[in-house]
This record gives sequence, structure tokens and C-alpha cells, in this order.
Amino acid sequence: MNYRKVMLLGADGQLGTDWRSFLRKKKTDAAVFTSADLDITDARRLATVVGEVRPDLIINCAAFTGVDAAEDEPETAHRVNHDAVGHLAELAADAGALLVHYSTDYVFSGSEADMVRYPSGFDEGHTPNPANVYAHSKYAGERAIRGSSCEHLIIRTSWLCGASGHNFVKTMLRLGAVKEEISVVNDQFGSPSYTGNVITNTMALLAAGEKGLWHITSRGTITWYDFAVEIMRQTGLGAGIVPIPTSEFPVRAFRPFYTKLSTRSLEDVHGTRLVSWSEGLRELLDKLRKANKNAEHDKPVTETSAGKPGKGSA
Ligand SMILES: NC(=O)c1ccc[n+]([C@@H]2O[C@H](COP(=O)([O-])OP(=O)(O)OC[C@H]3O[C@@H](n4cnc5c(N)ncnc54)[C@H](OP(=O)(O)O)[C@@H]3O)[C@@H](O)[C@H]2O)c1
Repeated sequence: MNYRKVMLLGADGQLGTDWRSFLRKKKTDAAVFTSADLDITDARRLATVVGEVRPDLIINCAAFTGVDAAEDEPETAHRVNHDAVGHLAELAADAGALLVHYSTDYVFSGSEADMVRYPSGFDEGHTPNPANVYAHSKYAGERAIRGSSCEHLIIRTSWLCGASGHNFVKTMLRLGAVKEEISVVNDQFGSPSYTGNVITNTMALLAAGEKGLWHITSRGTITWYDFAVEIMRQTGLGAGIVPIPTSEFPVRAFRPFYTKLSTRSLEDVHGTRLVSWSEGLRELLDKLRKANKNAEHDKPVTETSAGKPGKGSA
């Protein structure tokens, strides 16, 4: 990576955790902050830390991501996703650092007509129409960055899934192991994105010297129901997946019908690699299997098991 000093924020989230491992693997000089280390809404401390670290690249994975919680805590959502991001952009400009910031497909609230009109998704030039508090706060954050003078990469992604943290894949794996049937909504259309793939493509944009607003997701458009069916198929878990309309799964925040992000611009950039949503799922499941195996392997050896060689021992 061609940067002298990287600053990573939100290093404990799903994307932040994978960024942290990536930077470590690449032996990048990085100052890494979890939410416990640095609250980005603490303006004075944020300024002090940026001043001390003197980064030339800031990767912001910190966000208020509770879509339903944001309806009850709109001020907090705006403080984190809008005000703090605007402040971070000013600090990045002062420090001469490039700011990489993540935003969401939920800035769009597409209809059935949109799905027909834009079958490959909304492109970066399409005007957003956020329809819940979280989406409004994220769109406001995007505008704050674009209104500042900092050099930036704003990357919208969707249905994010990684090996750490909470996401749909992990929920399905948990429920699939204990339930015979799982009801999953079949009238919200979008595309899953895998943290590893988001990082690979963010790196490709950085390597190509790109700036501005970009979309990173996977190939293909599906519903949560389609996703759940494929998770069960690829894992061999036996739970039946029952399609239901959104109206039968009441949640606090409004969920848009169609939010597919077009990745046409990204595909033209040298070095990008876009996976299909099912291929990305295979990669993620492999990663989870390896992580589970390592966790098993790392378990402390107990007195009983140490004394009795297991099957297959020489
Ligand atoms: N998850 C998705 O499906 C999805 C979809 C589209 C776009 N995105 C965007 O992608 C980015 C990464 O999402 P993610 O799924 O990795 O989110 P995540 O797992 O919820 O991680 C967000 C991180 O930000 C931290 N954070 C929250 N408030 C903070 C504050 N005031 N100061 C410092 N850190 C704070 C959280 O810490 P605590 O846990 O301690 O609060 C958490 O570690 C976000 O910008 C999100 O909006 C996500």
C-alpha cells in the first residue's frame, strides 16, 4: 500500500475487523481505533488523535448501523453518521489525508418500476431517495464529505457480510442448525457484499488513484429468501426456507423494495474483481469453516483428552 500512515476507525465492526487483518497482513503502518479507543463523535479528541497520528489515509468503518435502532435514536445516528463524518472530512482536509468512507445502498428506496427501469441497479449518478432514519443519516454523511475540501473515496455497499460481527449469513447458520423452518422475506431485492471483496475492490480503486463516489457489491440481484435458500444449499443445513412478504415481518424501520447498486463504473477500473453473490457466499463459508477449525484446534487440551489419544491418532 502506497501510504505512509493509515488510520483505521471502527476497527471492531465487521468491515473494520477485516480491514485490520488486511493491514496487518500487508505490514502497513497503521493506527487502529475501535469504538472503545476513539469515539468519533468526540470532536476534540478526534482532532487531537488525527493531529498525533498524522495519517495520509483515513479508512472510516465507524458507523451507527442499527437500522431499526436509528428510528428510536435519530440524534445519535446523525451524530455518528453525519456530524462526526463531516468533522472527520475537515480534519482529513487539514491533514492532507485521503478519506475512505463507506455508505449504503439504503440511500436508495427503489420501487418495482425502478427494478424494471434499472435492472443492473442504480448508478453513482442516480439521485438518492433515503426512506428511513439510518439512510438519511448516511446520505447526510456522504453530502458532508462531498461538501468538504477533502480528497475522498465514498464507497456505497449493500447487505454486508463478513466472518466477524453480525450479519444475515451468520443468523441463517445459527437458525438453520436448530430450526426446521425459517420464514424469510421475499420482496426486498438487492445484492450481498462480502467484506473481503469490498476491501479487494477498495484497494483496486486506491491503486488506480480513483476518487469520488463508487459502488461495490456483487454480481446479481436477489431477495433475502433467495439468499437463505442458497445458504442452506451450500452448507447442507436442513431448515426449510419459507418465503414471506415484508408485511409479515414487522420491523421498526421501513425497508426499501429495491436497492441494487450498479457496479458498471467499478468494472472498468483496472484490478477490480467482482464476484457473483453465490461465489462470494462460498468464499465466506470457507473462511468461516477455517475459522471454526482453527478455534477447535486452539482449544486448551484437557487432562482427559490429553490422556486418551483420539481416533486416528498414531
Ligand atoms: N452492515 C451492512 O449490511 C451494511 C450495508 C451497507 C453499508 N454498510 C456500511 O458499511 C460500513 C461498515 O459496516 P459494518 O457492517 O462493518 O458495521 P458494524 O459491524 O456495525 O461496525 C461499525 C463499527 O462502528 C463502531 N462505532 C459506532 N459508533 C461509533 C462511534 N461513535 N465512534 C467510533 N466507532 C463507532 C461500532 O462500535 P460499537 O459496536 O461499539 O458500537 C462498530 O465497531 C458502515 O459505514 C455501514 O454504514 C453496512
